[in-house]
Amino acid sequence: MDDFSVHKGELYCEEVPVARLAKAYGTPLYIYSQNTVLSHFRKIQSAFSELDPLICYSVKANSNLSILRLLARQGAGLDIVSQGELVRGQAVGVPYGKMVYAGVGKTEVEITAALRAGILMFNVESEPEARLINRVAGRCRKKARVAFRINPDVDARTHKYITTGKKENKFGLSISLAMDLFRQSRRLRNLEPVGIHMHIGSQITSATPYIQAIQRLKKMIADLRQQGFEIKYFNLGGGLGIIYDEERPQTAVEFARAVIPLIRPLNCRLILEPGRFIVGNAGILVTRVQYLKRGYLKTFAIVDAGMNDLIRPSLYHAYHRILPVSRRSRGKTVLTDIVGPICESGDFLGKDRHIPQLEPGDLLAVRSAGAYAMAMASNYNSRPRPAEVMVAGGRARVIRRRETINEMLEPELAALSKT
Ligand code: LLP
Repeated sequence: MDDFSVHKGELYCEEVPVARLAKAYGTPLYIYSQNTVLSHFRKIQSAFSELDPLICYSVKANSNLSILRLLARQGAGLDIVSQGELVRGQAVGVPYGKMVYAGVGKTEVEITAALRAGILMFNVESEPEARLINRVAGRCRKKARVAFRINPDVDARTHKYITTGKKENKFGLSISLAMDLFRQSRRLRNLEPVGIHMHIGSQITSATPYIQAIQRLKKMIADLRQQGFEIKYFNLGGGLGIIYDEERPQTAVEFARAVIPLIRPLNCRLILEPGRFIVGNAGILVTRVQYLKRGYLKTFAIVDAGMNDLIRPSLYHAYHRILPVSRRSRGKTVLTDIVGPICESGDFLGKDRHIPQLEPGDLLAVRSAGAYAMAMASNYNSRPRPAEVMVAGGRARVIRRRETINEMLEPELAALSKT
């Protein structure tokens, strides 16, 4: 499952004791297992191998350049949503022909950059966006390959903030509007419609909503072909759930077994956009206990990582397992809230946890912190963002050094010097 394990009470990432890394690089610290990233990528690859899909890793899940390069070397493409992500892909040598570009708010500047680069396709989310891409392509004297993102109106049964394929969501187009856009695209001469895209949400633990969605799109693809459109690509999006707590998500193999029989007859090149599945359980956030404080009802362990470093618990009430990095004894557990130093009651990493009695200076590991963790970190409360370390076997290297206070202030200091 992943390469974090406890030996003689000590947490290891692959062959390296986590405590040693915390000592060497300080806390809060993100630590990733290279082997876990690779093995999860390969799980998807092999589960779908009979269809030879293009796996476009979703950069937003964890955009560290070293992680992108690692995946690029395995042949991964990228699912991008900004010019920044385009440049990240470029920096690690991902071929533009393996990049797909989604998002409801692509700007003219971003469209121009992606088009000039020659990405595989835009996943178009609205009619005005289709028109803008057409205009920009005309100006650049290029043909823009596009897929239309369909909102199939299915319930992915996940947190409401990460559901994207229901009627009330801002994403994608209804089937009828998309059909209309395909027809209009005959007049939008600089567009080349090449496929259909869907992405119904994130942390989805069963194949059922995907099956419902594909069934809704099957007829659409047949109708489009009848009208003379060549549908070369079918992009199933991302969204595969992982184990944070007690979830029992489908495995990659189970998922593939459930959807391949529906996808094969579509006769399209399959694109997948996994993010969390690849990196989610490949990372932990290590934090040090600063104070223990007795509250009215329970104990607070005040740690040196806060909602600015990992916002998922605050934003989605997401559950992340938290365990001591070094277990001193198997003593009794204490009901504890693990909270950060930020001046908000929403600043917590875990609530009502039964964990062994802690002491100031103890290290805690917040599990499943490889996806949407460092990628969503901010400087709130003027806190520099953590460092990131990658472990491979018995070796560890810094893949992003800790931000300094000076770096954080620099854009503002530059402005001060001008007045
Ligand atoms: N494709 C598209 C178009 C997406 O918008 C996303 C994620 C993915 C693929 C990858 O989804 P994944 O396989 O990672 O589930 N911050 C939230 C998750 C937001 C997901 C946004 N879109 C969280 O921490 O749970």
